[in-house]
Amino acid sequence: MKDVPNDGPRHVAIIMDGNGRWAQRQGKPRLYGHHAGARRVREIVEACPDLGVKYLTIFAFSTENWKRTQAEVSGLMTLFRRYIQSEARELRDKGVRVRFIGDRIRLDRKLVRMMDELETMTAGNDELHLTVALNYGGRDEVARATQRLAREVAAGRLDPEKVDAETLARFLDTCVLPDPDLVIRTSGEARISNFLLWQSAYSEYEFVDTLWPDFSAEHFARVLAGFGRRERRYGAVLT
Ligand code: IPE
Ligand code: IPE
Ligand code: MG
Repeated sequence: MKDVPNDGPRHVAIIMDGNGRWAQRQGKPRLYGHHAGARRVREIVEACPDLGVKYLTIFAFSTENWKRTQAEVSGLMTLFRRYIQSEARELRDKGVRVRFIGDRIRLDRKLVRMMDELETMTAGNDELHLTVALNYGGRDEVARATQRLAREVAAGRLDPEKVDAETLARFLDTCVLPDPDLVIRTSGEARISNFLLWQSAYSEYEFVDTLWPDFSAEHFARVLAGFGRRERRYGAVLT
């Protein structure tokens, strides 16, 4: 029997930041940091079930990250392909259901095929729902959702008068996921950089100084333990 805490966050989202600085501090190229960062993902994924986390959403590549050098971008894309290849079986066998959010249109076709395959091969799993945000931007997501919603209106299948926040949420990439309870950003930066803008309206935030490649399962457990002591009010006055 697992001793799963029930006052901890059910859905944790992480902005995995600081790979580049971690590498540069050791005089190594930025990609070295991305590889070290990728290794941390497995450790955090494995820690989730015992910590009561049912949904983990991680920011792997933003719609703004294309502004980096071609060498870094293509290195990251190769890393994503390798990561899927090396982790797929283990994720499936551990009961992890993998989903990807973000716009696939700009991604390499081979990578997209691997993403589709991983989603399909883990579709029956329910131990942990791992969502990877790849070429993801919150504003881009809302714009794409609005485009799909507008098409439904234009086709006469949706009454514009009936569009509310819940309607729009149904068109987001995250439509099947609950909103995150806690968003963690590593590396000391206190900004959200276009991550889950809509979904994190009432999320708690935790900004930690540790660089992502140094963020261990123990760090993760400590951040989650702090969450249980927070009072979430959702705009109401609690009595
Ligand atoms: C986060 O680390 C990973 C990605 C954005 C892909 P960074 O690459 O942003 O690392 P820093 O912020 O430059 O240290
Ligand atoms: C956010 O980190 C994106 C990911 C972690 C994938 P960035 O390093 O790209 O964000 P900024 O540029 O510091 O805002
Ligand atoms: Mg960064």
